[in-house]
Amino acid sequence: MSYLSIKDGQLQVPNQLTVPFIQGDGIGPEIWQASKKVIDTAIYKAYHGQKTIQWQEIYAGQTAFEKFGTYLPDETLATIQEAKLALKGPLMTPIGEGFRSLNVTLRQTLDLFACVRPVRYFSGVPSPLKHPEKTDMVIFRENTEDVYAGIEFLAGQAETTQLIEVLKEQFGVQKIRFPQTSSIGIKPVSKEGSQRLIAAAIDYALANKRKSVTLVHKGNIMKFTEGHFKKWGYDLAEEKYTDVCFTMQTFEKIAKKEGKEAAQKTLNDAQKAGKLIIKDVIADNFLQQILLYPEKYDVIATCNLNGDYISDALAAQVGGIGIAPGGNINYHTGYAIFEASHGTAPDIAGQGKANPCSLLLSACMMLDYVGWQAASHRIICAIEHAIRNKTVTSDFAQAMKEATLLSTQEFGDLLVDLME
Ligand code: NAI
Repeated sequence: MSYLSIKDGQLQVPNQLTVPFIQGDGIGPEIWQASKKVIDTAIYKAYHGQKTIQWQEIYAGQTAFEKFGTYLPDETLATIQEAKLALKGPLMTPIGEGFRSLNVTLRQTLDLFACVRPVRYFSGVPSPLKHPEKTDMVIFRENTEDVYAGIEFLAGQAETTQLIEVLKEQFGVQKIRFPQTSSIGIKPVSKEGSQRLIAAAIDYALANKRKSVTLVHKGNIMKFTEGHFKKWGYDLAEEKYTDVCFTMQTFEKIAKKEGKEAAQKTLNDAQKAGKLIIKDVIADNFLQQILLYPEKYDVIATCNLNGDYISDALAAQVGGIGIAPGGNINYHTGYAIFEASHGTAPDIAGQGKANPCSLLLSACMMLDYVGWQAASHRIICAIEHAIRNKTVTSDFAQAMKEATLLSTQEFGDLLVDLME
């Protein structure tokens, strides 16, 4: 196997790269079958055999359970740990107490702290907006902390009652309205966790010549968790990115000392000098703003739960989860899992109706991650071409006038033809 490695903090990518993949459950096998040939063809067209991917199948979810009696075999984790990289389809979350989401387990075990979701519009995709083309953002969602840490205590259990007593007796907490019947959840948000995520967002924005990074938070209510996410973000930008960033925290300081006009002038100068602007917005306002003025936002950094809501809301603006890709990345260790952002879609599984674009665009993110942009560019051009011609899968065809309906496999075959 020739896996990705890291030397002196740099990714080392072999030309014959082995990539583990998980087909996933439900529509997973269909979208994988349709996508594999597209990815291989794009790499061949870009590099004429000099670079190739050897796909190594690994198992998780229902298929793993049927084969090995466990939803997440140790071997799967060990292979990803060795390979550092994986592409994955959707996994069903086993229902029942005691099961954690497999996706959350993978993200936490491998400490994949950034969930990266680019959201852009492909011309012709049915959208509820008048101007969906104005939405072009990349979301950096913190992936390991917040209420997703899974620290919860069920109402009525002895440990919950004990915890509530400690809060009352030792910390003077009087605000639990119904202590006898309250469940308790704990929301850890750390300085390290916040700053490594925000640094990744800033680095991405700088490398891709983006204009701003917006810290989306609910700090007006959760002052020490989300409020400090914002504070730690601004502090990081002011301490470590002084030459290349200008923060709205600095703007406010200047406005207070020298007046608004002076602050505005400094901001204008920073923009003229091409500095990255770091700003913030409260999460509920953000959800209004992305509908009213999406063009004001560019790269987004946010805590885990906000990121969950925001990712799906923004995906819907540009055509839904069938076309929204995602990557879970630890920029320090190099580990990365790229994945279709939708679920297993049991309502359409096995019917050839699934749109493979989410998986394909996630593969494009993976190709970009390893520096094979010439291949990802070909896939994106083919997708753009297919959608422009209204040759699409049923999710889009339903909402387009005079569309040609293709099955999942036919859509994949069309993309291959378009690259020939
Ligand atoms: P879902 O994303 O599977 O489906 C929601 C709706 O979107 C359905 O109507 C489905 O038909 C449609 N849809 C999803 N992907 C599509 C595609 N590629 N093309 C066309 N239409 C598509 O969400 P749901 O129903 O809440 O979850 C089903 C299962 O998937 C659950 O077990 C859940 O835990 C799991 N899940 C897994 C995820 C992952 O592995 N990353 C993410 C979300 C859910």
